[in-house]
Amino acid sequence: MQAMEIDDSQIEEMVKEWFTKTARYEWRRLRQDSYHQIEFTVTMRFLEKYLPKHGLVLDAGGGPGRYTIELAKRDYDVVLLDLVPEMLKLAKKKIRRTGVLRKVKQFVQGSVEDLSMFPNERFDTVLCLGAPPCHLLNAKQREKAAKELVRVAKRDVPIFISVISRIGLLRSILVEFPHEMQYAKHRWEVGDYIPGLQGEGFTAAHWFMPEELRELFEKQGVEILELAGLEGLSSHHRKETNKLYKDQEKWKMWIEILLKTC
Ligand SMILES: C[S@@+](CC[C@H](N)C(=O)[O-])C[C@H]1O[C@@H](n2cnc3c(N)ncnc32)[C@H](O)[C@@H]1O
Repeated sequence: MQAMEIDDSQIEEMVKEWFTKTARYEWRRLRQDSYHQIEFTVTMRFLEKYLPKHGLVLDAGGGPGRYTIELAKRDYDVVLLDLVPEMLKLAKKKIRRTGVLRKVKQFVQGSVEDLSMFPNERFDTVLCLGAPPCHLLNAKQREKAAKELVRVAKRDVPIFISVISRIGLLRSILVEFPHEMQYAKHRWEVGDYIPGLQGEGFTAAHWFMPEELRELFEKQGVEILELAGLEGLSSHHRKETNKLYKDQEKWKMWIEILLKTC
């Protein structure tokens, strides 16, 4: 199979297939252990810092709804959008179980690339967390997604985006996937990954350089307030991080350190 034979719609199918298959894991992902909770904790700290006191939030690529549920519990109204029907089905179940269904105003199946179902300046906050833009392999699609995410946000409201770092990925290869080291140069230089062509184990993805993410949104007239690494110093230290959690005092101190250094 050659990379050039694969078009955007085939990539989208691959991504849908992957997230349909991994929906249940995605629900557990951020809660499976203390190490994985760091992504959620650090993200929530940034949300708490910038979120308006109330309003309507778009959780784009919200998956099974971890952030939707957290914000609904805090009395925000939320619209949850995801590419994958299985994710929305699971999200509905989890949201109902948590008792916050009335705060979730809409479940929408769609791609962040096309938010035409929403008018301009509809939302008081826009989230796009857990890297949905990474699954758009064509640079034009990523630009369209950035434009759409900005268009549906009111003026002067926060937009929170998280993506997978291309620099972090190199450490992942070293530590977790050394058998894929022969692809490291390509992944570093191009940033794209298509399963079957350059290894296995994840769906089609584009890994971002920090300045690339910055430029993508600055081009849309957005002011970048902060860029942060979500796992920071704990990244790839799962065992040690989980051990630390057993001592709550030290854990708290470590989280503060992560927040200061991220
Ligand atoms: C790793 S999960 C993150 C879920 C959630 N935002 C979180 O951080 O816990 C990525 C989600 O992005 C969704 N996704 C991937 N590509 C997308 C696209 N083009 N538009 C909308 N959602 C997309 C997937 O279906 C999946 O639910």
